[in-house]
Amino acid sequence: MTSKALLAATALVALTLSLPATAAELTVGFSQIGSESGWRAAETSVSKTEATKRKVTLKIADAQQKQENQIKAIRSFIAQGVDAIFLAPVVSSGWDAVLKEAKEAKIPVVLLDRDIDPSGKELYLTAVTSDSVHEGAVAGEWLAKAMSGKACNVVELQGTVGASVATNRKKGFDSVVAKNANLKVVRSQTGDFTRAKGKEVMESFIKAEGGGKTICAVYAHNDDMMVGAIQAMKEAGLKPGKDILTVSIDAVPDIFKAIAAGEANATVELTPNMAGPALDAIMAFKAKGTVPPKWIQTESKLYTAADDPQKIYDSKKGLGY
Ligand code: AHR
Repeated sequence: MTSKALLAATALVALTLSLPATAAELTVGFSQIGSESGWRAAETSVSKTEATKRKVTLKIADAQQKQENQIKAIRSFIAQGVDAIFLAPVVSSGWDAVLKEAKEAKIPVVLLDRDIDPSGKELYLTAVTSDSVHEGAVAGEWLAKAMSGKACNVVELQGTVGASVATNRKKGFDSVVAKNANLKVVRSQTGDFTRAKGKEVMESFIKAEGGGKTICAVYAHNDDMMVGAIQAMKEAGLKPGKDILTVSIDAVPDIFKAIAAGEANATVELTPNMAGPALDAIMAFKAKGTVPPKWIQTESKLYTAADDPQKIYDSKKGLGY
């Protein structure tokens, strides 16, 4: 090979090495919380579909609701040298050390569906989440409107203690209660985002509130807990959706089934497609260095019986909920 040809070949190799990774070469590690709710199952399933669409290899680690498992998974993704890490943080605190390790390894982290404490703000690239304070406020506004000034004792089923969405959904709802003297939250307890716990806690609320006679409405931080609460109300001889109004968050197919049957009243939608926008952000960042906005906000829409719940049920039931 002549020295000119050698130079050209060397230049070509150097250029190829500096080219950005194509989507086909990207591997993303996703530390998922678990499968506590129908919404979470759908998020996992939609994430796989969105990754396949973009030819990205997605490695999902199920943490079974434990932060320690999520931290282990992140360390394992770092050791494997993945191109990016997606994290759905079960609670908001305790991430700084492990996210610093990811930053030192130059692996961008994207938060999905939940937030972390402000101290970790510089440790992730972007967060794809809804405005969960707003979701709580939308739920509260629906109830305030439905009651139009009449007195209403509300029981609240909170999500996982320490999860950003539980703290924020409470805050948003409380902000509406503070402006409406007729609304009063008389009981509030965690149901950990699960159907079983939602049912159990609702049973105890019914017992403590004269067989449910002094409860006017239930606000649940997710639909799964509400589905459990509906079961508890029925078993206690109450008519959910009529004797006791319901408003919850997620818009899973089963809540539309309940709304269609007149056993639930309202839900605020949380899209299960957090991974699609996150993958687009990572691909643009890797290919062109495009820095995404710090917060990619998803929509929060209210649904009631006026929105053809049976049709929505049919359209959603194949999504992995
Ligand atoms: O972080 C999103 C919440 O987590 C969903 O509303 C709930 O169903 C899930 O478990």
